[in-house]
Amino acid sequence: AGAGPFFVGGNWKCNGTKESISKLVSDLNSAKLEDDVDVVVAPPFLYIDQVKSSLTEQIEVSAQNCWIGKGGAFTGEMSAEQLKDIGCKWVILGHSERRHIIGETDEFIGKKAAYALSQDAVPGWDDIVVAYEPVWAIGTGKVATTVQAQEVHVAVRDWLKKNVSSEVAAKTRIIYGGSVNGGNCAELAKQDDIDGFLVGGASLKGPEFATIVNSVT
Ligand code: G3P
Repeated sequence: AGAGPFFVGGNWKCNGTKESISKLVSDLNSAKLEDDVDVVVAPPFLYIDQVKSSLTEQIEVSAQNCWIGKGGAFTGEMSAEQLKDIGCKWVILGHSERRHIIGETDEFIGKKAAYALSQDAVPGWDDIVVAYEPVWAIGTGKVATTVQAQEVHVAVRDWLKKNVSSEVAAKTRIIYGGSVNGGNCAELAKQDDIDGFLVGGASLKGPEFATIVNSVT
């Protein structure tokens, strides 16, 4: 961990019901989370409002996707303006499940990211967190080794240095995702270039997610 406050995202994917989400929110509300960690959870669209109105303010709420531009005749989509309207300041873009299963391309995702940033009051690299998730580690229980993850995070940071700037490379949080759990998070969090996590399965369990949030301390 190094660039900025540790960042832990919980990607709930397409999971949950009103009832299970209400239980998860209540578990998160009663968990003791370190103050200096940025924590964001991403419920399915349908439940964003429910979560926003019941979750502790210590945890922010994210969407899992948004449309490529201004809203309109795009059945089934949500626009960045609509997310902003309901006070949702974060969105996950370009998750590998959207690439592999839905077929989103780099170009499409790049446009989405640019448009989403254009809707923010302070557009720019300050608002971006980059997640590295080896596809073979997602939901499989096979976590990357600390060496593997650190190596790729360094490569991503080098890419930012060469293609954006040294300043951006130094401050952008690069987070790891793929079978992170309460047992493996502490070792991963010790790596210099792992600035947080994007957690899937384990983010659906309040106490375990709290352990992951607190892993950097
Ligand atoms: O976005 C997080 C994710 O893809 C990792 O999922 O279940 O392996 O933690 P999981």
